[in-house]
Amino acid sequence: MPNQRFDFPQDFLWGAATSAYQVEGAADEDGKGPSIWDTFCRRPGAIQRGETGAEACRHYRHWKEDLALMKDLGLNAYRFSVSWPRVQSEGRGRANEKGLAFYERLVDEMLRLGLRPNLTLYHWDLPQALEDKGGWTSRDTALAFQDYCALVARRLGDRVPMWATFNEPDCVSHAGYESGVQAPGRRESPQVVNQVVHHLLLAHGLGMQALRREARLKGLQAGIVLNPLVIWPTPGRPEDVAAAERHWRVANDWWLEPLLKGGYPEEVWGWMGKDVPRVEPGDLQTIRQDLDFLGLNLYTRARITAGASKDPLVPDYAPLPEGARCTSMPGWEIFPPIMESLLVEVTRRWGRLPLYVTENGASFSQDAPGPDGRVHDPARIDYLRDHLQHAHRALASGVDLRGYFAWSLMDNFEWSFGYAQRFGIVHVDFQTFRRTPKDSAHWLGRVARENGFEAEPLPPRPSPFVQARG
Ligand code: FCB
Repeated sequence: MPNQRFDFPQDFLWGAATSAYQVEGAADEDGKGPSIWDTFCRRPGAIQRGETGAEACRHYRHWKEDLALMKDLGLNAYRFSVSWPRVQSEGRGRANEKGLAFYERLVDEMLRLGLRPNLTLYHWDLPQALEDKGGWTSRDTALAFQDYCALVARRLGDRVPMWATFNEPDCVSHAGYESGVQAPGRRESPQVVNQVVHHLLLAHGLGMQALRREARLKGLQAGIVLNPLVIWPTPGRPEDVAAAERHWRVANDWWLEPLLKGGYPEEVWGWMGKDVPRVEPGDLQTIRQDLDFLGLNLYTRARITAGASKDPLVPDYAPLPEGARCTSMPGWEIFPPIMESLLVEVTRRWGRLPLYVTENGASFSQDAPGPDGRVHDPARIDYLRDHLQHAHRALASGVDLRGYFAWSLMDNFEWSFGYAQRFGIVHVDFQTFRRTPKDSAHWLGRVARENGFEAEPLPPRPSPFVQARG
């Protein structure tokens, strides 16, 4: 079949994403206070091979080179996060001028190069001083977050056009406070975990208010980045679709409904029984702020089946299908139709709102420069292209998608996996800190410059949700 052209809307953002702890290093330089990740990395067994983000990619030193690289590739946007303990070492009180100045330099250089800054205020590195006072189990942390947002907005709110309060709050609550596989590594009761969720949502609302109050840039967009589970009913039986639908309510609407409608989903609230969070008067109104955009991170799907589970909060996951292709992340199946499915489902359920894919990408841990000095990563090019084709199809069906950020700009500290996972479109040698753009970086740069690409047409393949609805 002849190739088809996939063109994207005018002003589409083409970028790459990172987060502070995963790339900056300089963990205790220039007045930065410790974060929960600095602490967690010292816990024996928490991180593979005992690695830490103390140096990471040394982006704190190499930031200029990293921005120039994106510019040279042809990207037009960069998603990064501000480290809270770098700009407020204890999470409260006096600002750390050197920390703020770093982000100011970074943003000014982005603007000079024509890279649109997309700033995330919280990508998991809570100041340790706040964790010592209870972390996200404490309502005071939400209040401290509001002050921190105001502080950053006063400094950068005249020039940063895109702000997200949180990255993946679901990971903060469940990986941080339930399973404990991420910082702060706590294993709390379901009620406490739900309280953490509530405090994160409240902090989002308070943060949005602070941003709107303090930032002066006209047309500034403020929102949040979520990682909705891309729920995929095993095809065939209506009970599987029902199980999938139930789990959409539990995993996704538990976040989306308070954010967009100002209330928790009623039936899920009922299923939670005595484990529901304490909600104070006015909280739900605070949480529901008008979002200028919703950021979506997606990598793989969750196959749900109707099985033995009697608890509506606990789904039955189907095993990986036979012949599934995976990335180097254990169990992360490559299944590009997730892109169309998630974009369409969010739009269908919540109405048309500006969406960005704020993270999408693949880890292939074998990536390394070859004898020709280049890093050939055809599997990552396939991953990016296939997902983008499905994004294109979502656009054609009316989804308001405004941009795409590959995770990640460069290989970096992949949380509990340390440096073994390589998600970058740019290779990093962690001995020399040398950066080498992989073939996928050149590919994505060309797509950005041309605002589209050519590829084989997609096969028809509606999601089982779509099929189920007829
Ligand atoms: C997301 C995180 C990001 C990175 C990717 C692989 O959940 O937001 O920091 O770890 O996964």
